[in-house]
Amino acid sequence: MQRWRNDDPQGERGTMASARPFITHIIALVNIKGGVGKSVSALFVAWGLAILGFRVLLVDMDPQSNTTYSLTGELYEEPEGTLYEVLREQEPKALRAIIRPTKNPNLFLAPGSLWLSSTEADLVSAMAREWKLKTALDEVLPYFHYIILDTPPNVGLLTINALVAATDLIIPVYLKLWGLVGVRILNRTLATLRVKFARFGLTFPVLGVLVTQVRRPMTKNAADRLEQLRSLYGDKLFAAVIPLNEKVEESTDQDVSGYDYAPRSPGVVAYSAVVKEILERVNRQPKESTDPTLQSPGG
Ligand SMILES: Nc1ncnc2c1ncn2[C@@H]1O[C@H](COP(=O)(O)OP(=O)(O)OP(=O)(O)O)[C@@H](O)[C@H]1O
Ligand SMILES: [Mg+2]
Repeated sequence: MQRWRNDDPQGERGTMASARPFITHIIALVNIKGGVGKSVSALFVAWGLAILGFRVLLVDMDPQSNTTYSLTGELYEEPEGTLYEVLREQEPKALRAIIRPTKNPNLFLAPGSLWLSSTEADLVSAMAREWKLKTALDEVLPYFHYIILDTPPNVGLLTINALVAATDLIIPVYLKLWGLVGVRILNRTLATLRVKFARFGLTFPVLGVLVTQVRRPMTKNAADRLEQLRSLYGDKLFAAVIPLNEKVEESTDQDVSGYDYAPRSPGVVAYSAVVKEILERVNRQPKESTDPTLQSPGG
């Protein structure tokens, strides 16, 4: 267990094959629609779990690299040190070679870069093209309790790699017209993938549908769409709904997490509730301690 005290997963070489006392949950935030809150939710979920003491890796699969920018303040215009180097066909790098620490000792980042947009095209002719991310993640599973995947707003090969690698999916959605259309198309895609990947035992389970950016008071249209989502997803809908809240948006530009930046603002409080629901749903209790060596999650 000593390895969890080490803040540098790259320093762990050679110890990773030892028996694992937990299962790593790999949660992908997906929706083919842009702007529904995938990146913001990925950040809040990752930070929230890290603050509770879990060891978390955030993987930025989106060429726009919004989460990478939020966590590092840097835009990676070059491929070096980014996921591009891991997913490329020629001389791919190991994932641990690009993983970077963040300000929170429990939170690590696999940075995205604009170069990932060319990965999408490269993957088309690659061998085992849907499995690249899963294979890359396999070797770092012993380091992390949770791996959070932020994805681009489409179901191209980057997103399919995230879906194949994920153990659980969270679908962020907003209550505007196109938000629901996005969910319908995503559902159809998941149904197709379930058939295609059934022989590999992949079921693409939805952990929850997360409603974001809700205006208060809700318009009649928004309330109707929430009802539609409820009839479609039932208790898959997270009980916590994220309000439209400028503190949430502002927090993505800060040096500190949203939980530190505006702990009492309604959006941040709602994200805390979502993190608790996620933990309940994956059968884990929130940890009091910030030291995962003291309370190793079962699983
Ligand atoms: N609860 C919220 N309150 C206010 N602004 C929000 C909230 N959630 C997200 N936003 C803002 O809305 C915009 C879209 O959010 P985000 O980038 O998370 O969506 P996305 O689904 O990742 O989009 P894309 O598909 O383009 O990557 C961002 O500017 C973000 O800061
Ligand atoms: Mg995004």
